[in-house]
Amino acid sequence: MATIQTTSLLLLVTILFLSSSLVLSWKKDEFRNCNQTPFCKRARSRKPGSCSLIATDVFINDGDLTAKLVSKKNNNQQQQQDQEEEEEEEVIQKPLILRLSVYQDGILRLKIDEDPSLDPPKKRFQVADVIVQEFESSKLWLQRVSTEEGEFGVSSIVFLNDNNEAVVKHDPFEVYVRKKSGERVLSLNSHGLFDFEQLRVKKEGDDWSESFRSHTDSRPYGPQSISFDVSFYGADFVYGIPERATSLALKPTRGPDVEHSEPYRLFNLDVFEYLAESPFGLYGSIPFMISHGKAQGTSGFFWLNAAEMQIDVLKSGWDAESGISLPSSQGRIDTFWMSEAGIVDAFFFVGPGPKDVVRQYTDVTGKPSMPQHFATAYHQCRWNYRDEEDVANVDSKFDEFDIPYDVLWLDIEHTDGKKYFTWDRNLFPHPEEMQNKLAAKGRHMVTIVDPHIKRDDSYFLHKEASEKGHYVKDASGRDYDGWCWPGSSSYLDMLNPEIRSWWTEKFSLQNYVGSTPSLYIWNDMNEPSVFNGPEVTMPRDAIHYGAAEHREVHNAYGYYFHMATADGLLKRGDGKDRPFVLSRAIFPGSQRYGAIWTGDNSAEWDHLRVSVPMVLTLGLTGITFSGADVGGFFGNPETELLVRWYQLGAYYPFFRGHAHHDTKRREPYLFGYYILNLTSTLLLNIKL
Ligand code: NOJ
Repeated sequence: MATIQTTSLLLLVTILFLSSSLVLSWKKDEFRNCNQTPFCKRARSRKPGSCSLIATDVFINDGDLTAKLVSKKNNNQQQQQDQEEEEEEEVIQKPLILRLSVYQDGILRLKIDEDPSLDPPKKRFQVADVIVQEFESSKLWLQRVSTEEGEFGVSSIVFLNDNNEAVVKHDPFEVYVRKKSGERVLSLNSHGLFDFEQLRVKKEGDDWSESFRSHTDSRPYGPQSISFDVSFYGADFVYGIPERATSLALKPTRGPDVEHSEPYRLFNLDVFEYLAESPFGLYGSIPFMISHGKAQGTSGFFWLNAAEMQIDVLKSGWDAESGISLPSSQGRIDTFWMSEAGIVDAFFFVGPGPKDVVRQYTDVTGKPSMPQHFATAYHQCRWNYRDEEDVANVDSKFDEFDIPYDVLWLDIEHTDGKKYFTWDRNLFPHPEEMQNKLAAKGRHMVTIVDPHIKRDDSYFLHKEASEKGHYVKDASGRDYDGWCWPGSSSYLDMLNPEIRSWWTEKFSLQNYVGSTPSLYIWNDMNEPSVFNGPEVTMPRDAIHYGAAEHREVHNAYGYYFHMATADGLLKRGDGKDRPFVLSRAIFPGSQRYGAIWTGDNSAEWDHLRVSVPMVLTLGLTGITFSGADVGGFFGNPETELLVRWYQLGAYYPFFRGHAHHDTKRREPYLFGYYILNLTSTLLLNIKL
């Protein structure tokens, strides 16, 4: 009896220890929260109605409506200002330029930036190469603007489509879309939370640096954040803004009785052992939100901006004390958008149905590319398949047990010292032969190519990249040197189209020695992940092409890397072979370049469950070809979990089994009759 009790106690202690180490495995402290992020803290402390900008000089210009946004306080000398406001006024508010453009299908685009003719200290970063050309050419040339004077002052109105019009209210400035019947659909700055921190010249004594843990960001250009409120009318729920392991409908982050008070963060990060139920932002960012309501249908809002973004979903009643009353408060969902840098380049989608909104969003950012047929079938991956013998063995076992699979993957250990485009020749002496054997059975292989380049003078890629000056620079102008799988590494500046074009050449069969036409690519760690960097990524004051700071570009870095890799495979096949490239980091437009997976999940039931809203959210935001690691990346799934995961995974658009190197082998044929029967039937069905 005593032994049973001791054993149970020991068991309990072990379970408690294991579960606590699991909970603690997500290193929350490694990442900043809103209060530790000054722009977020500043923005969140603003009160509704604090925006003092008014729209003046409203004209039609080059087919767009343009206006100046000027500060009412600067305009009105009579106005009493308290001490605090006077201090604020030290920052001289120069007029901002507003531009409203209308495109086919009722898409409205709003741009707000500093006036270049007033010589701001630096050009603010505008995201390039996301908006597709077809969309740019679908602009409708506005001919006229009408004026309306009502209860809420003067407004300028332009045509949007047969059912909707766009309105710019002048004082205080507000932009909204309304139906011809007068009901509002979407609005910006209805709560007067708009704020645009203009760049200014550093004065003596200004200390703009910011520190987090052991890292200091020099912030040479100082505060430059933008924030504003967006309201969705007739809305019951809002969705979108991946990537995070949480419910499909986004829960409120602020307002009456909301306990969890962090905004949704959009900042691409390599989050080690992420939790299955957490709103924390993961590897990718898509600042696109969709609202849906029984009464009024669906609408959407997209902010094209690659800097860190934080978004609050505000619970009804959050503004009870503001005294602001909006024309329709029934079923309205208010949200608050904050970004560290960049410009306002925002799109309003009027729907009216969910499919319409997704179509409108993908009209702007591009349609998903058609996957290769083989890529829609089952993929077998593991970190790592050790050598050619291991590959041959796994391949033959699938045949022996009659389990169909189409692609075998090689993780980082297949390379010579984590130098991508090379092979560990002791383990993989005959890579072409290995691929050809798979190809003879109609199968393909995928190898991993990450963006960190080993700083090794004998490595051809590093030699060439450093000689040509192709690396991202640190704040002092030297090649940025960070730590990743190979140790000391530098990162290609994928923002530069010339460097992307140079990268595409690396995938030709001549340049990628040991590759064959049946080999495709996996881009991992492209947030970018930097083990010794702030929050496991690149410092925000690192410098990219065109003097852009990393803070302005961060969320798009992995997207440009994915784009260049996909273009490389396209070039390799002379444009005839559709590329297959899997990426971990995402940004709007990623759907044009390939598949996405949800990163390092765990072999737990909760991770299986949350993979469903994660994949569905990706689908809603244009990324239709996505999946989660079947079986869970970390840990060892029990047989039942693995079976259920295969059953679910068969419905992921991208279906891949993958596992960490510390886990037990788990190829499906290892699990006896139960799983065998199930997986082979399932996989066969998919094949057919
Ligand atoms: C992190 C990726 O998320 C994982 O899938 C991969 O196996 C490891 N990196 C090693 O490359």
